[in-house]
Amino acid sequence: MTSTAPALTVEGITKGFPRRGRGFQPVLGETSFSIEQGEFVTIIGPSGSGKSTLLKLLAGLETPDAGTLTLTGDPILRPSRRLGVVFQQHVLLPWMSARQNVLFALEADGRSGRSAKDREQLADYWLDLVQLSDSKDMKPGQLSGGMQQRVGIARAFALESEVLLLDEPLGALDALTRHALQLQLLHLSEQESRTFVLVTHDVDEALLLSDRILVLSQGPEARVMRDVRVPFPRPRDRDTVQASQEYLALRRDLLDLLTAQS
Ligand SMILES: Nc1ncnc2c1ncn2[C@@H]1O[C@H](COP(=O)(O)OP(=O)(O)OP(=O)(O)O)[C@@H](O)[C@H]1O
Ligand SMILES: [Mg+2]
Repeated sequence: MTSTAPALTVEGITKGFPRRGRGFQPVLGETSFSIEQGEFVTIIGPSGSGKSTLLKLLAGLETPDAGTLTLTGDPILRPSRRLGVVFQQHVLLPWMSARQNVLFALEADGRSGRSAKDREQLADYWLDLVQLSDSKDMKPGQLSGGMQQRVGIARAFALESEVLLLDEPLGALDALTRHALQLQLLHLSEQESRTFVLVTHDVDEALLLSDRILVLSQGPEARVMRDVRVPFPRPRDRDTVQASQEYLALRRDLLDLLTAQS
């Protein structure tokens, strides 16, 4: 496929799960959209509507009941190193330090042919960026939930996948750290040519970071009911973005859409 293919396409997918006991619970109704290379797209929607399910489908961790998903034209059939994921719950190896967790992922990746010294530098670079320089030798059990989440973010970014799928990566953080990491995520995404798909409940976070916001309807059979373009020029800064009239109007529209459903 040529490099002009969309980074991701979702074509006519549906997804449900067997109910405990018997029966079937439909989660995603027929849904289609595409995401261009380098785009930052956020998925918002009510709790339980299927956002994590959609991200897992994009990550190749679940298969759709119908329809297809592609990564630059190639069918997504299983997890791939081209698709990095930060889960809603951090998944770290508990016997390894924060730094070892990042290094382990870089070693397992093996793609880049980096030397051990380069890998160490890269791990330290990302751990510093998420402000864990002083805690990188601690094990997950010795870190707070927010710190563990930041290790997960450092690990995903260090891997240099083409697409980063982020499921509420800042959800477990205190307000101050969350604020700081939003700005870091903004700067990183503006410096990098990677494609980002973020799930969040936070409309302000979505408006600050995204080129587009996809709003999922309340399930069952949730669908993308709105595809909102976020017009603020880049590079962005929070104060300028939030001071604009357009911001307030978009924010109100999105909140109305979300509250209308709950
Ligand atoms: N593996 C599974 N087996 C059975 N049901 C599942 C499975 N994964 C998800 N579901 C169901 O699918 C629905 C959507 O779940 P999902 O985690 O995608 O929602 P969400 O939009 O991410 O919610 P939240 O905002 O609370 O994280 C829920 O009803 C959930 O119980
Ligand atoms: Mg979820």
